[in-house]
Amino acid sequence: MKLEEIPRIKSAFLPTPLEYLPNLSAYFKNCRIWMKRDELTGHCFGGNKERKLEYILADAQAKNADSVVTVGALQSNHCRMTVSMARKLGIKTELILIRENEEKIQPQPEANYFLDIFMGAEIHIVARDAVQSKIDSVMGALRSANRNPYFIESGGHNALGAMGYVNAFLELQKQLSKINEKADHIIFPTGTGTTHAGLAAGALISGFKGKINGISVARKSERCLQETEAVLQQIMSILNSSFSSGDLSVYDEYVGNGYGLLYDECIDSMKLLADTEGTVLDPVYNAKAFHGMADLIKNDRLSGNIIYINTGGLPGIFNARLMERQLARITREN
Ligand SMILES: Cc1ncc(COP(=O)(O)O)c(C=O)c1O
Repeated sequence: MKLEEIPRIKSAFLPTPLEYLPNLSAYFKNCRIWMKRDELTGHCFGGNKERKLEYILADAQAKNADSVVTVGALQSNHCRMTVSMARKLGIKTELILIRENEEKIQPQPEANYFLDIFMGAEIHIVARDAVQSKIDSVMGALRSANRNPYFIESGGHNALGAMGYVNAFLELQKQLSKINEKADHIIFPTGTGTTHAGLAAGALISGFKGKINGISVARKSERCLQETEAVLQQIMSILNSSFSSGDLSVYDEYVGNGYGLLYDECIDSMKLLADTEGTVLDPVYNAKAFHGMADLIKNDRLSGNIIYINTGGLPGIFNARLMERQLARITREN
């Protein structure tokens, strides 16, 4: 099957801009940096999930789904984007959101969680160990009510979702060729590995000679590589392209103490981008990956033409707890 033949809802505002970052490049001296601004895909604060959901929701539509059920952390970008896009398609959304801690405190309606409520999603907040039983009961209840629900894996983690990033890779190549430039490195945050798998597939298909480097925000690189390679195999098989072994690379030394846990150096790197280019990153994904990129450049482990893919997650900036931490760091510095 060809990529163009896979059903897709064209919802995102594409191509997203490819912006040269002159001040940041001058700061580092040994490289030229562009940002692929995928936080600007368009709807409800956008981000990489919109590209994935263009394919996943097209599949839901093809199966005549009238409701989608998906799962994620309380502040999941994937869940927020699912509600937004499903709204446009007139599909009902039920979200299963995982409580951050074991206490039964009502979470603050802020950032992504606020947007989920505001857009009218039906929300079920559960502890991590109750997720599967909740998915089963929500799907069961919808079927009993004669509805046709469609389940989407957490993070849009599947080969269909990854097609969004095969597409993004080809889009980026076109933009680079228009300005007569070639990328040596493509850098981005990696969680489930779906974005990475799509980019890697795009690179394989188009004979890209540079490096695709994911920076993990949570998992050890071994697990990232396993998951990414599994999706990559599926994409290549759907697209009837051969693939032997993965030339995949993930840096896991910037995870810190775990998913969503920001550390001071990330805040400093966020501030560096804000001060040089006036762009603010999300604190969960891009703060870590961008910090990883900055550190690799500083230590001469990365140079040449670098494309940083800003994958979005912007509502995270409005998470009061994380904001307080960032302000405390900046105030301490001054
Ligand atoms: C803003 C943002 N960036 C990056 C990622 C990671 O993408 P993937 O799960 O495809 O690795 C996510 C996924 O949750 C995200 O929300």
